[in-house]
Amino acid sequence: RHPGWPARLGPLRVAAGEVAVRPIRLRDAGDWSRIRLRDQEHLEPWEPTGPGPWRDRNSYWSWPAQWTALRSLARRGQCLPYTITVDGEFAGQITIGNVIRASLRSAWVGYWVSSSVVKGGVATAAVALVVDHAFTSAGLHRIEATVRPENTPSIKVLTKAGFRQEGLFKRYLDVAGDWRDHYCYAMTVEETGPGLVARLVAAGRAEYP
Ligand code: ACO
Repeated sequence: RHPGWPARLGPLRVAAGEVAVRPIRLRDAGDWSRIRLRDQEHLEPWEPTGPGPWRDRNSYWSWPAQWTALRSLARRGQCLPYTITVDGEFAGQITIGNVIRASLRSAWVGYWVSSSVVKGGVATAAVALVVDHAFTSAGLHRIEATVRPENTPSIKVLTKAGFRQEGLFKRYLDVAGDWRDHYCYAMTVEETGPGLVARLVAAGRAEYP
């Protein structure tokens, strides 16, 4: 069985409310689709190019297939797919993906947050909760995050969480219809000190409820 999966993490209090993460659920379909259809302009510039129009890829009926695919990867130990909640309500997703074990013990982290709760510390809290978990219970050694140089909010999230910039990947990922440059940010377990959550709390950016 996959170490560290399933798990619920948090809550952590930030300006937007109480942030927690839990495994994705089939019944997230309604919230997931409603928010993503409304938030197309907020999300599409930063997400992998998909087949077909946004409204089809994010319809209520496209969630079960995504849920099934992510759940089976999670069962095989290849990803940890979470829903982010704020005050108990669906508020986005955060995923640890491409988990490689053996001598690498590495993965990437990716996330999105509903436009209704942005700029309130939600993504930073979710990254801290999930990365701490990945480095402890899930036994990983390195977490990487790739982000477009234009994505100032996401770069802020990674910097606040304690990630370090490692380089620029040229024409790295097919995002919003073209091959886009991405900065690579990363962190290894040796750099976490007392933990990302503990550091956020010490910096006054989050509180234990
Ligand atoms: N210009 C400058 N700073 C900004 C702007 C802006 N236009 N918008 C937000 N910010 C700042 C906020 O003020 C905040 O910084 P602060 O705490 O110093 O004030 C920071 O950016 C955002 O931090 P959080 O509040 O923790 O993050 P939030 O919950 O708002 O979520 C996120 C950020 C996930 C990037 C959200 O905007 C989003 O979902 N964007 C669309 C999808 C996306 O880009 N996902 C990330 C892809 S890259 C990856 O997954 C590694």
